Amino acid sequence: MESKKPIPILEVRNVEKVFIVENKEFQVIQNISFSVNEGEFVGIIGPSGCGKSTLLRIIDGMIRPSGGKVLFKGKEVLQPSDGMSFVFQTFALVPWLTVEQNVELGLDSLNIPEKEKKERVSKYIKFVGLDGFEKFFPREISGGMKQRVGLARALAREPSLLLMDEPLSSLDELTARGLRDLLIRLVKSTETPVEAGIIVSHNVEEVVYLVDKAIVLSGRPAKVIEEVKIDLPRPRNTKTRSFFKYVDRIISLIS
Ligand SMILES: Nc1ncnc2c1ncn2[C@@H]1O[C@H](COP(=O)(O)OP(=O)(O)OP(=O)(O)O)[C@@H](O)[C@H]1O
Ligand SMILES: [Mg+2]
Repeated sequence: MESKKPIPILEVRNVEKVFIVENKEFQVIQNISFSVNEGEFVGIIGPSGCGKSTLLRIIDGMIRPSGGKVLFKGKEVLQPSDGMSFVFQTFALVPWLTVEQNVELGLDSLNIPEKEKKERVSKYIKFVGLDGFEKFFPREISGGMKQRVGLARALAREPSLLLMDEPLSSLDELTARGLRDLLIRLVKSTETPVEAGIIVSHNVEEVVYLVDKAIVLSGRPAKVIEEVKIDLPRPRNTKTRSFFKYVDRIISLIS
């Protein structure tokens, strides 16, 4: 049988980033290339401060690379696009807006009719399991629920690529565990328009649980040490030897 050639949604090609600090060049990213295919969940893992958030910002078009380029659906990324949404570690909710209003905020830059806005807000609040909490304020909900709001806000934009910068790192392990399956569902299922996801994480077990492919980065300047394909069936059992083999492999690459 002929296998179908995967279609890349995103191509990162020889990306470099040099910041100028006090007139000195400071290289953060060196010649990074990888691609993200349709349906793929990709992890980026590497030492603290190596340039992971900078790389994600280059992918989404907020920061311009010093060299190389990023192609999103075949077109060079020159500025943030409607096709990508961002999820932050800090949730980034506006404290004086309700859950519903925070989700709607994600739609501000999109030109869609009011009725459709309301429908999307309600659809994605349900999707993340927050129906009944629409009128609550951020201070009235837990950390896990706050990140569900962050996810609903990103999803309401109906992006094809979801970029997540340590979305679960400020949550306790039990809360994070509940949210991991939600992340898999929103990237891998056909219930949302999301076609692929990239997650930055420090947590090796989290990466092995979530992704199809882990891009393992070196310390600054960040370079790709290896792309580790995680070939485990889903739902993944974190207690198996094969799961731990992947965890050990990634740990040995970064330490
Ligand atoms: N605008 C900027 N100007 C100068 N240097 C910057 C700028 N943004 C980031 N840096 C530097 O680039 C390096 C990488 O930062 P970045 O936040 O991308 O790392 P990270 O891998 O996401 O770190 P962490 O794991 O702590 O989140 C850091 O040394 C940081 O100080
Ligand atoms: Mg970071």
